[in-house]
Amino acid sequence: ERFSLIIAAAGSGKRMNAGKNKVFIEINDKMIIQRTIESFLDIDEIKEIIVLVREEDKEFIKRALSYINKVNIKYVLGGKERQDSIYNALKKVDKNIDFVIVHDGARPFIKKNIIIETMEKAIENDFAIVAVRSKDTIKIVRESEVISTLDRSELWMAQTPQIFKFDTIKEVYEKSIREDVSATDDASLMEHYGYNVNVVEGYYSNIKVTTEEDRFFAKAIIEMEV
Ligand code: CTP
Ligand code: MG
Repeated sequence: ERFSLIIAAAGSGKRMNAGKNKVFIEINDKMIIQRTIESFLDIDEIKEIIVLVREEDKEFIKRALSYINKVNIKYVLGGKERQDSIYNALKKVDKNIDFVIVHDGARPFIKKNIIIETMEKAIENDFAIVAVRSKDTIKIVRESEVISTLDRSELWMAQTPQIFKFDTIKEVYEKSIREDVSATDDASLMEHYGYNVNVVEGYYSNIKVTTEEDRFFAKAIIEMEV
């Protein structure tokens, strides 16, 4: 099967407070975006990479990734929300692709065995995502009052990669734009339209670098893994 890898990097990283797109932050002398893309490089089924970028980052990111020549990289302008960005990428996926892998540019510590396992699960079931069991008890809170406590044994935290059959996810995105349905991850759009999404249990170290202290967690993860 032929896979296209979509890397979402067209955000502004507001919560990180770095004064620049967080995917350009260097952790132990290598940029987050470089680490992220390198995690996928020796998987032969990945036939193209689409990197979503903001206009003002485009030249810089192209230069930062210019050393990568094993796979063709297309640069596509993102949109206002992550969902708009992914839709822009789906429009540029090559015609002969069977599955798309959507991955956050800010998740540099994804491991190859999990990527492969998720690809295999997607081939079997059309859709598969990586998630981890919730360590904390999750409560629904409104105006600082607890409304209810969810059953932790059933709660999972969704990560990326999220892998989808290309034809179906494209259709689902077109429908969601027409019907103004929005979601913070791609799998929930699929669920909204009644598709079954399978889960692969991943690792807690596959963090999305999001807030300032994550710089330190990121360094610690690198040290833990060498
Ligand atoms: N992203 C994107 N297009 C957007 C918004 C986000 O491609 N319009 C990407 C980000 O670059 C990031 C990933 O989606 O790699 C996950 O989003 P998030 O962690 O929210 O990143 P940012 O939106 O950049 O950060 P913040 O929400 O703090 O501004
Ligand atoms: Mg965001």
